Amino acid sequence: MLLEVKNLKVSVDGTVILNGLNLSVDRGEVHVLMGPNGAGKSTLVNTIMGHPQYKVEAGTILFDGEDITHAPANERAKAGLFLSFQNPEEVPGVTLESFMRTSRVAVTGKPVKLFAYKKELAEKMKALDMDAEYASRYLNVGFSGGEKKKSEILQMLMEDPKLAILDETDSGLDVDAVRIVSKGVENYKNRDNALLIITHNTKILEALTVDYVHVLMDGRIVRTGDGRLVDEINRNGFQQISAAAV
Ligand SMILES: Nc1ncnc2c1ncn2[C@@H]1O[C@H](COP(=O)(O)OP(=O)(O)O)[C@@H](O)[C@H]1O
Ligand SMILES: [Mg+2]
Repeated sequence: MLLEVKNLKVSVDGTVILNGLNLSVDRGEVHVLMGPNGAGKSTLVNTIMGHPQYKVEAGTILFDGEDITHAPANERAKAGLFLSFQNPEEVPGVTLESFMRTSRVAVTGKPVKLFAYKKELAEKMKALDMDAEYASRYLNVGFSGGEKKKSEILQMLMEDPKLAILDETDSGLDVDAVRIVSKGVENYKNRDNALLIITHNTKILEALTVDYVHVLMDGRIVRTGDGRLVDEINRNGFQQISAAAV
């Protein structure tokens, strides 16, 4: 298993959000995480990334054979975890390119060969239909919603993690931007890596081969199925799924 979350209990500011959550993701797989607003989807993925605000009260998180339950966030990134945030932050003074280059040095522990790096970056930006000029803009400053999400997808492609987690990266995007996100995800995906997507967008799911769909409610995964579960949710809503699970 690449990621194994066992019996996870997480609290935020003293309130228990997740309780008894189990989730396994293996190499080569695409997983979709769904659930109503406020169910705890972002809480789960931020906890997996090691965000200090989320307190693990019980349970374990194993990644690539290592227990990372209490590992600092930078070690998790080094181990091959990547999270695209639901609301990417603006960082004045730091350009998109220097931000990504700094992350690459931090994650790989090796210096970056500038010419090759710039070439790779230009190719990946082009594939995302991103103006090359964005590389020298301050990270997310003045970016539109769609541009912020594209920049997140670019960071994913440049980092090439073992497990990429996208937290509603496609929300608020127009159809063209959704297509670019789907294409970026396709470019990323291979047999050795994995993807965990949180989305409400059926369009992005149509463009992907989904192996598992999980429904997060009442602090845990109440149902796991294949791609057809998305249709069932769209037809019947989350409440019915949860009622059937009890
Ligand atoms: N930083 C935080 N401080 C206080 N409460 C939070 C925080 N983050 C999340 N919560 C609460 O945890 C619950 C789950 O939120 P979240 O994980 O964002 O859900 P989802 O991503 O599924 O919409 C919500 O009730 C939310 O209000
Ligand atoms: Mg969320």
